Amino acid sequence: MPFDALRSSSSPAVYVGASPEAPGSNAPIGIFDSGLGGLSVLRAVRAALPDERLIYAADSLYAPYGERDDDFIADRTLAICEWLVSQGAKALVVACNTATSQSIAQARERLAVPVIGVEPGIKPAAITSQTRVVGVLATAVTLRSARFQALAERHTGDCRFILQPGHGLVQAVERCDTDSPELVALLRSYVQPMLDANADTLVLGCTHYPFLDEAIRSIAGDRLTLVDTSIAIARQLERQLDSFGLRAMPAQTHDQVQDQTQAQAIELPRFYSTNDGKALRQLAASLLGLDVAVEHVVIPSRRALGLESDPV
Ligand code: DGL
Repeated sequence: MPFDALRSSSSPAVYVGASPEAPGSNAPIGIFDSGLGGLSVLRAVRAALPDERLIYAADSLYAPYGERDDDFIADRTLAICEWLVSQGAKALVVACNTATSQSIAQARERLAVPVIGVEPGIKPAAITSQTRVVGVLATAVTLRSARFQALAERHTGDCRFILQPGHGLVQAVERCDTDSPELVALLRSYVQPMLDANADTLVLGCTHYPFLDEAIRSIAGDRLTLVDTSIAIARQLERQLDSFGLRAMPAQTHDQVQDQTQAQAIELPRFYSTNDGKALRQLAASLLGLDVAVEHVVIPSRRALGLESDPV
């Protein structure tokens, strides 16, 4: 399938220097989140697709998205996706439930590369819950989105979902706080009512939340099965790459790879952040064991470029 840098003829490419050539199978995959949460998806993608080159963009300057208005989220999502395409990405993962719930249709409409989104694991939770009571922790924007409402309606059946906005949790992870007493107390205020209602399953409906799994365990013990969809997202990405013939060759067979040092360089993701990137570097090192430099990047929003009335 031929890929143009951007599909929409009515929408000029924002970034000068975007490659006019279609990205090939050895081009990188772009992964994006409002901040650090998408690292939980990057971790699953690296495990499932070790030969793929990855670029991760954290929009931490503007996190959290979960309490922003819809236009703001769509504006940032499109700007970052377009930037990733300008960096040569052959496929994109919008590793943010909030951005997916508001903007995935627009991103797919505008971009000529496969765009994979994420959504809360309502379906697996509804299938596996024994008590038929399921807690759902997600951002306020995700929970009120039409996309989420339709998903929940499709799978409710005899299952009761307890919807809880996770106010304050994204901010905690962005500070690299995954276990402070204040955070555990906040989490307890969200999780205890679910336990009291006999929930046996908790959907982690935001990619930041898997980094809070130990804190949740300290509250709920093994009473709650945690549903994190990052492995399913990695599988979906794999299927999409296969269907478009975009899977990378195994690193050892790349012509240009002469030795292990170069092979290593191909395997390490490139990290970018719209803020100073310190927290991204810290969390990647402590939770993923990846000690990689983070580059600061300025990605103006479409509004700032005067393109806000551009139809999407
Ligand atoms: N990781 C994002 C998500 O999955 C967090 C959204 C936010 O920035 O509030 O929804």
